[in-house]
Amino acid sequence: METILVTGGAGFIGNCFCKLLLKERPEWKVVNVDSLTYAANPNTIKEELNNPNYKFYKTDIRDREAIYKIFEEEKPNIVVNFAAESHVDRSILDPESFLTTNIIGTEVLMDACRKYGIERYHQVSTDEVYGDLPLDRPDLFFHEDTPLHTSSPYSTSKASADLLVLAYFRTYGLPVTISRCSNNYGPYQFPEKLIPLMIYKANHDQKLPVYGEGINIRDWLYVEDHCRGILAVLEKGRVGEVYNLGGHNERNNLYIVKRILSELNKPESLIEHVADRHGHDQRYAIDPAKANKELGWDPITTFEVGIKKTIEWYLSDKGSAWLDECMKQNQEWLVKNYKNRK
Ligand code: NAD
Ligand code: DAU
Repeated sequence: METILVTGGAGFIGNCFCKLLLKERPEWKVVNVDSLTYAANPNTIKEELNNPNYKFYKTDIRDREAIYKIFEEEKPNIVVNFAAESHVDRSILDPESFLTTNIIGTEVLMDACRKYGIERYHQVSTDEVYGDLPLDRPDLFFHEDTPLHTSSPYSTSKASADLLVLAYFRTYGLPVTISRCSNNYGPYQFPEKLIPLMIYKANHDQKLPVYGEGINIRDWLYVEDHCRGILAVLEKGRVGEVYNLGGHNERNNLYIVKRILSELNKPESLIEHVADRHGHDQRYAIDPAKANKELGWDPITTFEVGIKKTIEWYLSDKGSAWLDECMKQNQEWLVKNYKNRK
């Protein structure tokens, strides 16, 4: 029986990964370590808590003593690190927790792996470590050997963590892998991020704040496809390697916002262009050929299907109750982030 320790398993992607494991690897024990920051709603993990193969620790990954105790207790043989401060705009206004959680937290986890021994440490990273691509060069893509060239405190903290992970592989021989993924969307995403925030606002006939001209491009991937990619890296990936995971699905922000309005039957007059993000990355575009060739991984959810499923979930009884709670949790941030943008 595998015991897999998942950090950040109460967040958007980590929770989807736990759900996937409990469904498709029922013989595995899943241990979720999450400190439940503002970005986690306890209701996200309500169903998993009833599963006998699932255990939850409300613990900060920066707390070395507590993390070592969990390793002694659970003896995981696989660790997947999702826990992070993940919102670019927050990192611009207040970088410190990004540096401590995303870099020091990674160090503490890998030290625990060295001390207690594991078969695999996997780092969940992002395409943002490569910086951005120009809008007028659609022929360019991020490959695994594209130089790291970050823009925001968030992406810099993630790139730093990636370098540390590769250093632990080379220096200590820790069996690591890294996946770098593009923008995820789907159920249970905290409404500070574009898609859930815009669904909420459109549904409540509020203005939809689009940064700058709205021409920045992201490569959108359905969250469950990302999680299947991580599982494929764990089961088929080579240690010491980086794998890019992307959706082959580039869209600009105005397209996304208009699509949400049209699905909800709301007018485009709700769009409001506001002041741009500082250092705003122009275009992300992943080349996932390596993951496809070595792992046989490919995204299976088209954007057409994924966006409909996502909107349906946020409008459902369960999804809308979850979204309302998160919006209440997020009020202070929304005022802080948007007050000077008009
Ligand atoms: P999220 O913000 O929804 O969730 C992060 C989770 O980590 C939360 O549950 C939070 O409580 C927990 N956490 C934060 N700090 C912690 C700490 N110090 N100790 C323990 N737990 C802590 O983030 P997400 O969107 O699910 O992203 C998960 C990971 O995937 C991150 O590492 C992120 O960089 C990466 N990623 C995200 C995307 C995306 O589009 N969302 C794309 C590529 C990579
Ligand atoms: O590419 C992967 C990254 O994707 C992850 O590493 C990050 O954790 C994740 O947050 C995401 O980063 P982005 O900055 O791309 O996501 P966000 O949802 O914040 O913004 C998406 C785009 O929409 C971006 O170009 C900024 C724009 N935007 C965002 C918000 C919240 C707006 O125009 N208006 C908004 O109100």
